[in-house]
Formats: sequence, structure tokens, C-alpha cells
Amino acid sequence: MKVNIHFSNLHFDELYFSGKTTVVIDVLRASTVIVTALKNGAREIIPVITIDFAIKVSGNAFGGQTLLGGERNTKMVEGFNLGNSPAEYKPEVVSGKSIILYTTNGSKSIVKAKFSEKLFICCFNNLHSVANHLLALKKDVEIVCAGTSGNFNLEDAVCAGKLLSEMQKIDDTLEFNDSGRASLNLNKSFGRNLTKMLKETDHGKLLIQNGFSTDLKMCAQLGTTDLIPYFASGAIKKLEIDSAHSNKENEPKVS
Ligand code: MLT
Repeated sequence: MKVNIHFSNLHFDELYFSGKTTVVIDVLRASTVIVTALKNGAREIIPVITIDFAIKVSGNAFGGQTLLGGERNTKMVEGFNLGNSPAEYKPEVVSGKSIILYTTNGSKSIVKAKFSEKLFICCFNNLHSVANHLLALKKDVEIVCAGTSGNFNLEDAVCAGKLLSEMQKIDDTLEFNDSGRASLNLNKSFGRNLTKMLKETDHGKLLIQNGFSTDLKMCAQLGTTDLIPYFASGAIKKLEIDSAHSNKENEPKVS
């Protein structure tokens, strides 16, 4: 089983992902928002690549059960219901709702990988369950770090390295590309104190400057949920794993 890490999605054509098993990571903050929203009862998250499209979709669909969420330059977009702080996605706000999500890097990376055969979302909060699920699938994996505007960022690379390290603990025959090996070392150097690491990243500093320092604590929580977000037919839903088949190559069910 080979695991390829990519520190940016910039160089990819959408078709690269056809038939692949892919994981998208955007620790600060899109992946963490998606995991939190689904954990708190959101029906689905619809990732979009433009604000105009987000507004258009929300106007036409789902009988008033939609919320517009996300950010531009870290802040809530004018006219949206929610920003991109995980703490905003509380049960009383998101339960039963379809959330249309626009973010600078995360939602775009997910949409770019939409042709994947299986597409999952990972952050520190659900890292262990994603690691276990990927091993159970026994398929080569592409791990895409959303990065920042096409560039490398440390938080996504450390999360990818930690994901590989968890998988390696269970299967020491895994093969990695060069970025995979680099991410394992980045996790060793920076992955011990996740809150500290996030505070010292470029995007972490910007979030603190813009008043979102409490988000970093939520984004740094490791292994707090088993929930795995799964993208299919344009929407991200909670993956329901059939435990009877979890070691087989079953088609995941979404709820
Ligand atoms: C992104 O998609 O770039 C992020 O989620 C940005 C943020 O939350 O500030």
C-alpha cells in the first residue's frame, strides 16, 4: 500500500484523482469545521469554489434548511450565516441543516478532488479514525494538504505526517513518497505540542491577529471523534462504516 502526500493542490488537474482514494486536510480551519458541523448534527456540507455560487445554491435549494458558512481573509463573508470558526457550528445552529461552505483553500481543495473514488476529510480531531479506515480499505492513498494559496503550510503537513505515523504504527510495510517521508519528520519536530505549533504558523498568527485564537485550541485537539466526513455526489456526509465489513473493501454508506 502506497501513501502519497501532496503539500499543495496547485499542480493537479481534477482528473488526476479519478478512481483514487483521497484525503483532504485543512487543519486551520475548513477540515475542523466540517468535522465539527457533522458531529453536531449537520445533514451535509456542500463545498463550493466561489462566493457567487454559494449564494446561488443557497437561494434555490433545500427548502430553507441551508446555512451559508465560511470565510474570506479569515472573516465571515458578508451575507453569510456563519464564519469559519468551529465553535460557531453548535448543535442548536447546525442540526439538520445543509451547510454551503466557501473557504479560501479547504473547500476548493475538496472540489478539486471530487472525481476521487473515495474522498475523506481529515483534521487532528478525527485523525485516528481516518488512519484506521484507510488501512482497512487497503488501497493506495493520495493525501492532499490544502496549504495556503497553493503554497506549503506547516499545520497541514504536520497533520499529514501524524496520520502517516499512526498508520505506520499498525502497518510498517507502508510505502511513502518523498513528501510523505518529509511529513513524518515534520511531525516528529513539531507534532508534540499541537496548540504551540498552530500558534507559531503563519496562518495561526493571522487568525490570532484577527481575534480567532480560541479556534486554534479546537483545531489542535487530537483524536476527539471517530467521525469521518465522506464526499459523494457534491456533498460531504458522515461516513457510516458497516462494522461487519470494515476490514473488507466495502462501499462506504453515508447518512
Ligand atoms: C481555508 O480554507 O483557507 C481556511 O479554512 C482559512 C481559514 O479558516 O482562515
